[in-house]
Amino acid sequence: MDERAIGVFDSGAGGLTAVRQLRRLLPEEKIVYFGDTGRVPYGTRSPSTIFQYARQDIAFLLSKNVKFLLAACGTVSSILPADYAAALPVPYAGVVDAASAAAAAATKTGRIGVIGTSATIRSGSYEERLHRMNADYRVFARACPMFVPLVENGYVEPGDPVTAAIARQYLTPLREDEVDTLILGCTHYPLIAPAIAGVMGPEVTLIDAGREGALLARRRLTELGLLAPAGQTGGAEYYVSDEPEGLLPFIRLFVGGDERGPVTRVAIDNY
Ligand code: DGL
Repeated sequence: MDERAIGVFDSGAGGLTAVRQLRRLLPEEKIVYFGDTGRVPYGTRSPSTIFQYARQDIAFLLSKNVKFLLAACGTVSSILPADYAAALPVPYAGVVDAASAAAAAATKTGRIGVIGTSATIRSGSYEERLHRMNADYRVFARACPMFVPLVENGYVEPGDPVTAAIARQYLTPLREDEVDTLILGCTHYPLIAPAIAGVMGPEVTLIDAGREGALLARRRLTELGLLAPAGQTGGAEYYVSDEPEGLLPFIRLFVGGDERGPVTRVAIDNY
């Protein structure tokens, strides 16, 4: 048993899709969330910049004495070197491993689509994990760089015509590739899942990287004996690198319930 908080981070609001699931799955856990809203997006940047940002995000969360780190960001999870992650002072999990395993469990035809940021798709991280599980999988990967700005700017209402048009543009080739499973390889994307499903059709299983990351965190915490003591009052504290008010509508919308924060600004360059 360990009463310390779980540290969760993302470049912005997308990682809240993992927080929502963690709050449901593990209501007794405390969560410290960091969203790097002053430097979002990560997915258009170089691996060295993303690694530098991720190191600072992790250093901040470690300063909060977290017991576990979840990279609720497909981009960080794709870029962070395995030896760096293994040497961290607390256990680490990333959404790429979690979502790849879920896709392997879901696919029947072995034709798997992956969408993510440009950095994620360039890294080949999902293909690498999927092919390690089964060399025969056909993996169709596509960067969708406009999706993160759409989400961060609030174009998330189901039926939004701008989001629907861009989704059609990006996803029509994947539909034509006849994938039966599509990994939403960026944690922002579940927020526009209706637009994505609208193009892919009901027969394609969508894998939510945020949700799978939360499930993986629960499994690891259980195996490691790090769950919160029974009866502990859970809750989340939120930290951002830009104006705190910017995160509030996303917390209301995506974490839901009576989640309100607190949200505090952090000078992330100092970490
Ligand atoms: N939520 C992110 C991801 O999962 C990052 C998006 C970005 O900052 O570009 O990849």
